[in-house]
Amino acid sequence: MEGSLRIVLFTVLSALFFSAFGVDDDDCPCMEQELCKQIQNETQFEVFVFDVGGKSWKSYDWTKLTTIAAFGQYDAELMCFAHSKGVRLVLKGDVSVSAMVDPTNRTIWIKEKVSLAKRQFMDGINIDIEQAVEENSPEYFALTALVKETTDAFHKEIHGSQVSFDVAWSPKCIDKRCYDYSAIADSCDLLFVMSYDEQSQIWGDCMALANAPYTQTLTAYEQYIKMKIDPRKLVMGVPWYGYDYPCLTFSQGGACEIQKVPFRGAPCSDAAGRQIPYSFMMKQINSSMSGRMWDVEQQSPYYNYKDADGQIHQVWYDDPESISLKAAYVNKFGLRGIGMWNGNLLDYSNNPVAQQQSRDMWNALVATRETEWGEVTLEVKSMS
Ligand SMILES: *[C@@H]1O[C@H](CO)[C@@H](O)[C@H](O)[C@H]1NC(C)=O
Ligand SMILES: *[C@@H]1O[C@H](CO)[C@@H](O)[C@H](O)[C@H]1NC(C)=O
Ligand SMILES: *[C@@H]1O[C@H](CO)[C@@H](O)[C@H](O)[C@H]1NC(C)=O
Repeated sequence: MEGSLRIVLFTVLSALFFSAFGVDDDDCPCMEQELCKQIQNETQFEVFVFDVGGKSWKSYDWTKLTTIAAFGQYDAELMCFAHSKGVRLVLKGDVSVSAMVDPTNRTIWIKEKVSLAKRQFMDGINIDIEQAVEENSPEYFALTALVKETTDAFHKEIHGSQVSFDVAWSPKCIDKRCYDYSAIADSCDLLFVMSYDEQSQIWGDCMALANAPYTQTLTAYEQYIKMKIDPRKLVMGVPWYGYDYPCLTFSQGGACEIQKVPFRGAPCSDAAGRQIPYSFMMKQINSSMSGRMWDVEQQSPYYNYKDADGQIHQVWYDDPESISLKAAYVNKFGLRGIGMWNGNLLDYSNNPVAQQQSRDMWNALVATRETEWGEVTLEVKSMS
């Protein structure tokens, strides 16, 4: 009791202090006070990276990235470094939607997040709520209100800040997430479209399939855009991980039947598999049964391997080839940018093969964009 009273008193007193005198420069952990200032510049093209902690950010391609969503522990060194590169570092926002139906509760939550962001010299928030919500339910409206009020508060309190919201790969009630997608898009700066886990609800045969099949992924962007969502509000999210499925049966043609694990109403799901980082798969693939295979229909790589017990597994993943095919559409659709879950999943060791693989993954995010820009420049030249 006494302890919490002291905390409350401290919070009140420090709030009074900060509102009267502004944030004390002594609190800035960076070598230069200037680096504690939040990023003001508008970003024309986003490369949005989720970071789950540790120090792999030191190996990220800082010539490309523009925003880091800090899903691990707060790292002041990362904040200072990001700001020195003009990169935004944003908080993670995750809360129970049913608790947010109450407007007072929303206000409390938002205040707390704004104050946390200010204390840590951060540049916004990424709201990651993946709960099931029914259309027109109290939670449906509360979620939109939460996004709008969070955006208003952040923009008011932290000049230049960015508020983003993570959405499923398609707006069609995926995983029973029936949100008011167009109102949410209007209420924040950008939507990060999680174009992965696309087998979270398998309605057909229970077979191992690609994590992010080409046509399915791109069709869903058309659905978002048809809902009158400005493409400039959409960031394409690609996976830097895949799924390892143990096969119950393995056909001559290479089809892998998976265990029936229901999810939110569907009879089977990718929960029959296990998520595997790109770094791990790249170590396994050369000793696998099949080596890298390419599925023409899903435009995705995969491979098969036998485990120590002799069971066959099928692994579906994304690599520079499948990612750059999808990334080409970032420009074609006029999207705001691209990003991935998550930046930590590559092998950033000194191994030269791994280093090349990691470079290729970062380059795949923007490779097509750069060539297309090259073409645009040429056209302009020939016209003049
Ligand atoms: C951001 O804006 C400031 C001031 O307008 C400018 O000096 C700086 O070069 C910009 N930084 C980037 C990364 O564009
Ligand atoms: C307010 O939020 C808390 C959790 O943050 C929750 O336990 C409580 O039930 C909420 N109150 C209302 C009225 O929804
Ligand atoms: C796997 O094989 C490919 C193609 O032969 C090769 O380029 C790569 O270096 C190998 N990977 C590892 C980790 O040895």
